[in-house]
Amino acid sequence: MTAVPSTVARRAETLRDELDRLNEAYHTLDAPLVADAEYDVLFRELQAIEDQHPDLRTDDSPTRRVGGAPRADLPTVEHEVPMLSLANAFDEAGIVAFDRRVTEALGVDEGTVEYAVEPKFDGLAVTLRYEDGLLTRAATRGDGSVGEDVTPNAKTIASIPLRLKGRHPPALLDIRGEVLMFHADFDAINARQREAGAREFVNPRNAAAGSLRQLDQRITASRPLRFFAYGVGRFDAGSSGVAMPTRHSALLDWYRTLGVPVAADRAVVRGGAGLLAFHDRIGKARAGLPYDIDGVVYKVDDVDAQRRLGFVSRAPRFAIAHKFPAAEATTTIETIDVQVGRTGAITPVARLAPVFVGGVTVTNATLHNEDEIRRKDIRIGDAVVVRRAGDVIPEVLRVLFERRPASAVEYALPTACPVCGSAIVREDGEAVARCSGGLVCAAQRKQALLHFARRRAMDIDGLGAKVVDQLVARDLVRTPADLFALDQPGVAALDRMADKSATNLIDAIARAKRTTFARFLYALGIRHVGEEVARVLAREFGGLDALLDADWTALMERKRTVQKENAGRRSKGEGLLPVPLEGIGDEIVQALAQFLAEPHNRRAIERLREAGIVWPEAEGTVLRVDVPDTAHAGKRGPLSGKTFVLTGSLQDLTRDDAKAKLEEAGGRVSASVSR
Ligand code: IVH
Repeated sequence: MTAVPSTVARRAETLRDELDRLNEAYHTLDAPLVADAEYDVLFRELQAIEDQHPDLRTDDSPTRRVGGAPRADLPTVEHEVPMLSLANAFDEAGIVAFDRRVTEALGVDEGTVEYAVEPKFDGLAVTLRYEDGLLTRAATRGDGSVGEDVTPNAKTIASIPLRLKGRHPPALLDIRGEVLMFHADFDAINARQREAGAREFVNPRNAAAGSLRQLDQRITASRPLRFFAYGVGRFDAGSSGVAMPTRHSALLDWYRTLGVPVAADRAVVRGGAGLLAFHDRIGKARAGLPYDIDGVVYKVDDVDAQRRLGFVSRAPRFAIAHKFPAAEATTTIETIDVQVGRTGAITPVARLAPVFVGGVTVTNATLHNEDEIRRKDIRIGDAVVVRRAGDVIPEVLRVLFERRPASAVEYALPTACPVCGSAIVREDGEAVARCSGGLVCAAQRKQALLHFARRRAMDIDGLGAKVVDQLVARDLVRTPADLFALDQPGVAALDRMADKSATNLIDAIARAKRTTFARFLYALGIRHVGEEVARVLAREFGGLDALLDADWTALMERKRTVQKENAGRRSKGEGLLPVPLEGIGDEIVQALAQFLAEPHNRRAIERLREAGIVWPEAEGTVLRVDVPDTAHAGKRGPLSGKTFVLTGSLQDLTRDDAKAKLEEAGGRVSASVSR
């Protein structure tokens, strides 16, 4: 046998100490010191050393234990059937190897093993004992052999039945599962903690653990916890005549009939390919689930096969957890910059030491706004936990204060826009600070152009950030209308722009001239005017002039009058009048009015019109409004008493000509749709 190098022995000892410290913080104090992924790295390093040098494996090594010691002040419970842990795999190869091991051990053909597959809940494991159908005891996992007695606390959880459904419950049944907290409840609890000046929870799992492991169950009762079952401990049918299901999937089905919640997203699949497909499916559904999961769990479905496969030291051989790439990781904030959005919104962004999280390397994370930075007490130089879940922008979750260097510096938002130098202002009651430069600001201009080109706006294929950056930097484009003046050679001269792609872009810009009024309105990028609002506006106003000339105060007054009238009609069961600007609130109207009051915005719109933008739906539309206009004493003629609104550009006439003809025939031409 080769002697163990002393450096390796020392490293193992350091790792054991560190893991013990992290374990205690996590399991016993509910106050984790590092992100899970970081713990996993240390744990696996120690495991690897011990595998290579078994002499170094101590009896109390953290690799031999599951979880932490019970809280000293809660009564303890000894688990008759130990509560074990699961082996982990992080990639396809690990799962393929698992399926091969199982297949070989069972001596069956490849691809034939049936697995029950389910989410891996990210909460804390508990075991519930039911005697003759009555909940008699609840305990946490603790170190796997001894857990904490949390019976009174568990009884406050609404989804844990106090009595099992059904007439013939078994004499004894230990139901195992996970207690967790839904995201929405977590957010509400933290808001409450914040208001009370109490410590906030770092994540739903710790909130769940902290809420369950309470000496005073009234505290638990005030925290909305949930339970999902995934396993079984002791079982004794007694005289009930019920037989233990012979498949894991059937066990969970049975639980449902007993009134015990189980995961909705579960299945039975076959072979390694089935496992990987399920992982893929849940990975995609993950962001939409109301609770956190950190992977999926695969279990050989046949209970008899499970028994034959047995256990290795701390985990069953018949099951494995297929973890998702960690959504959280620890890194440091190197500096903080700000980004300027389309509407001038200033977003502070942390520049991070690169860190692998959620399957990608992350170097930036949003800090949301100034108040968030204050609230989380984030400083430059801090060690922080960042999170990246699904496709969402990575964010800085929290600071690891115990690691804060003396050199860490507080951050203040700049007072001038880093792009254009205009003042940054934050209005009363607003969380967001804004650059006051408007379209003078190149950053806002770029964002405005990108928005204009969006697929659901003007749909200009090929006008991406790289092109826009250059167009703005070279001052070729200042407002969207300038796009329509671009020519092929000008575009082809841009960096990394091939002749062909320049032609394509010019064509795409030309095509964009034909659009719809709603898209056009959306493309303008007016604050609060999203696609839906743009559609309502397009419908209500029919055309640009009516919108440009709108008397917003009068319109809103009219809206309120109709709403009041309708309230009366509704109570009398009468038909309702159409409400003008339905779904368009004061905030939107204010934004619109403000936007349209800016001469440079009006000029930008006018120039777009001149560039030849048309919407066929309104081409040549003369909107006839069948309201007799008695107040109007104009020329008499076939159109007397009628008011007309002209929208869009007319095909055969100029607007002025059309107006003249209508008036000639006795009609009145109004700028907007009025009462
Ligand atoms: S089965 C003998 N199924 O993960 C196998 N565990 O890392 C016992 N967990 O202690 C575990 N979801 O706290 C199982 N669907 C699931 C699970 C699950 C979450 C937790 C549980 C367990 C830990 C093991």
